[in-house]
Amino acid sequence: MAKFRKIGILTSGGDAPGMNAAVRAVARKALDEGVEVVGILGGYSGLIKDNVIPLTPRSVSNIISRGGTFLYSDRCLEFKTEEGMQKAIETCKKHEIDAIVACGGDGTFRGATDLTNRGIPTVGVPCTIDNDITATDYTIGFDTAMNTTMHMIDCLRDTCVSHARCNVVEVMGRDCGAIALNTALASGAVAAVLPELPFDEAEILTRIKTLAAAGKRGFLVVVSEGVVTEDGKKYGEVLAKKIEAETGVETKFARLAHVVRGGNPTLRDRFTATEMGVHAVELLMDGKSNLVICEIDGKITELDINYALIADRYYKKKLKPGDLDAFCAEDVAKMEALAAKRHEELSVIYQMLSETSK
Ligand code: F6P
Repeated sequence: MAKFRKIGILTSGGDAPGMNAAVRAVARKALDEGVEVVGILGGYSGLIKDNVIPLTPRSVSNIISRGGTFLYSDRCLEFKTEEGMQKAIETCKKHEIDAIVACGGDGTFRGATDLTNRGIPTVGVPCTIDNDITATDYTIGFDTAMNTTMHMIDCLRDTCVSHARCNVVEVMGRDCGAIALNTALASGAVAAVLPELPFDEAEILTRIKTLAAAGKRGFLVVVSEGVVTEDGKKYGEVLAKKIEAETGVETKFARLAHVVRGGNPTLRDRFTATEMGVHAVELLMDGKSNLVICEIDGKITELDINYALIADRYYKKKLKPGDLDAFCAEDVAKMEALAAKRHEELSVIYQMLSETSK
């Protein structure tokens, strides 16, 4: 068992509903183990600027149900520089922080591994609405964001049907179409457009035209923000204009944007955040670090952060020269299998959507 006296917690990158529940779980579990806990305000910037507060069981009361992050968040460019990193290490030394739990997405994990390499053991907890960390089946915030999105699309459906209109809805997710695809299926959209899968524009235009001629009132098309035209325009807006021009169905465009990143976390997000937060502390107490907590086939477990980061690039076809050099053939085969699994998961849902969107 590691002899930690003090653990720091931070939330970094885009906030996600359930981050507070994760912070609460980390703080309560560590305090229960007799370890002091501090919160670092504003993500890695807080570490650079020495913005650190003590956390007690009471200071994390009443946050499990709240969206956002009470530790605040930031996308910190300075942390990517050696100077910024050294300031962060100084803050850790000053406050005698022995280890850190970093809640966020892939950018947060890159920072976490940099800290571990400089002597501050760090474990990452995946928090992002995008569910775009390939190594884990689930990231905290995804369920809440999908439910909020679905609710918004339900509202649009009401008014679309009243007025016999189509509504193209652009949803967040960066270059991951999971929110778009799942909410399209769950809200009865006629189509979803995502960055990962090819999309037949002519087919969807024909489908809307045919269904409208057969008397269908109200059409919803969900487009992931990551889909862009060849000249760099967001595809959702472009598609809305094309649908109206080519099908004759009046078409509105709605960008849901950040609204789905807020709100009270669902049970799924509070529960998973608690499981993951507790596991992060257990790993640190066992002397383990440079890990990211994952949910794999329903089980909370962990993977090496470097593996997780490169597996992510592998799936997203963003590998840089030399990225695979540190990995054995078996690891690379695992990345290949994981990429195939993710692709298959999306394809199955996409197929189901096309079969049920008549
Ligand atoms: O990663 C979460 C996310 O909300 C993405 O879906 C989106 O592309 C991005 O963050 C928006 O970032 P920002 O909050 O910096 O505008």
